[in-house]
Amino acid sequence: MACDLVVVGLGYVGLPLARRACEAGLSTVGYDISEQVVSHLSDGRSHIDDLSDADITAMRAAGFRATTDPRVAGGADTVVVCVPTGLTPDGDPDLAALRAACRSVGAGLRPGTLVVVESTSHPGTTEELVRPLLERSSGLRVGDDFHLAYSPERIDPGNAAHGIRNTPRVVSGCTPLCTKYAVAFYGRLVDTVVVARGTREAEMAKLLENTYRYVNIALVDEVALYCDKVGIDVWDVLRCAGTKPFGFSAFSPGPGIGGHCIPVDPRYLEAKAESEGFSFRMLSAARGVVAQMPAHVVRRAAGLLREEGRSLNGARVLLLGVSYKPDVADVRETPATQVARGLRARGASVSYHDPYVPRFSADGVPLPREESLAEALASADLAVLLQDHACYEAGLPAQARCAVLDTRGSTEGERVSRL
Ligand SMILES: NC(=O)c1ccc[n+]([C@@H]2O[C@H](COP(=O)([O-])OP(=O)(O)OC[C@H]3O[C@@H](n4cnc5c(N)ncnc54)[C@H](O)[C@@H]3O)[C@@H](O)[C@H]2O)c1
Repeated sequence: MACDLVVVGLGYVGLPLARRACEAGLSTVGYDISEQVVSHLSDGRSHIDDLSDADITAMRAAGFRATTDPRVAGGADTVVVCVPTGLTPDGDPDLAALRAACRSVGAGLRPGTLVVVESTSHPGTTEELVRPLLERSSGLRVGDDFHLAYSPERIDPGNAAHGIRNTPRVVSGCTPLCTKYAVAFYGRLVDTVVVARGTREAEMAKLLENTYRYVNIALVDEVALYCDKVGIDVWDVLRCAGTKPFGFSAFSPGPGIGGHCIPVDPRYLEAKAESEGFSFRMLSAARGVVAQMPAHVVRRAAGLLREEGRSLNGARVLLLGVSYKPDVADVRETPATQVARGLRARGASVSYHDPYVPRFSADGVPLPREESLAEALASADLAVLLQDHACYEAGLPAQARCAVLDTRGSTEGERVSRL
């Protein structure tokens, strides 16, 4: 079936893109290998935070459909690849999904198609991995027969102010004509298109953005560790430093870094640089600091209980918010897992409260979920606020009778201690 766009991979990145394309009047089909994702979407159900069921219904009314049949890519003018690029169990870049997606797309590729990769990866991925895979599986040539470009997605789940349309979009093609087609495509979806000099510059720009965040969070984490050791209030330090109107961007310390991007993308850069004989010392130092944070939370939790003459062993500890960022359900790479593991290892009985996360396990062992925040706080020996969901701003943790360890610096109260 002919269509304007096929989106490959219908997750946090691909589904909002498909929605934006539907809004812009493009006939859009989604392809995903997950039967569950496709059947949910076909039933009008959304599986990601930023889209509601009503959004899916509106997309379907605009002609959107989802399928597990990769042959749809053969009928599209443009194919955008949004598959995951995570890490292997050993912590190395895992490009298996991107390879598989390229083979499926390549197998049915028609001359004249524009293929764009949005998945995050190291510089050189488009030219060195995607291009040969597509050319080999299709028998077509980039530049002569089809167009290939890279455009890093910048979506920030849960961000109401910046979405696909009003976030400038970096784009670059393998040839000037590839760039021209890619710019024309994104020009229909976003307000501002920024042309990078080449695909490697576009790939590197994305990694710089996320690495910048990673390194700066590591810096304030380390400042927090130092301040804790010597008795300086790090939150007051941040409040004061944050008043400087130039030359300082505020980042906050926390229990660790989660999500599919910030803890993962620096590893892509580091691994690629290592293979080229370059050592990114800043990244390995940052990783070392970030890795200490869950254990620091556990130590602080133990310290608070000790002040009350208790120990973690046998204590009822309530985790507040286990997703990796506020007001979303995504628990990928969440530091809550390591905090729960550390608390359990010291004998605590750990439960959690999170309105967004219906089930949560650490190391395959489920944590009991508390439905009522007030009741959970009343029966806990210690509450650890790991994620500052808006529901906690109402003040219940601040009024808790048990000790509260606030790892986000967002709560104040008699029984509250901040990280
Ligand atoms: N989540 C974010 O906030 C964010 C932001 C910017 C960039 N990115 C990048 O975008 C990419 C996608 O991330 P995501 O968060 O949307 O992932 P996701 O896990 O939410 O969704 C990916 C989807 O791709 C599907 N998939 C996997 N292999 C496939 C294949 N071979 N063919 C077709 N579909 C396949 C999965 O079933 C899943 O539905 C990653 O490279 C990520 O680093 C993510």
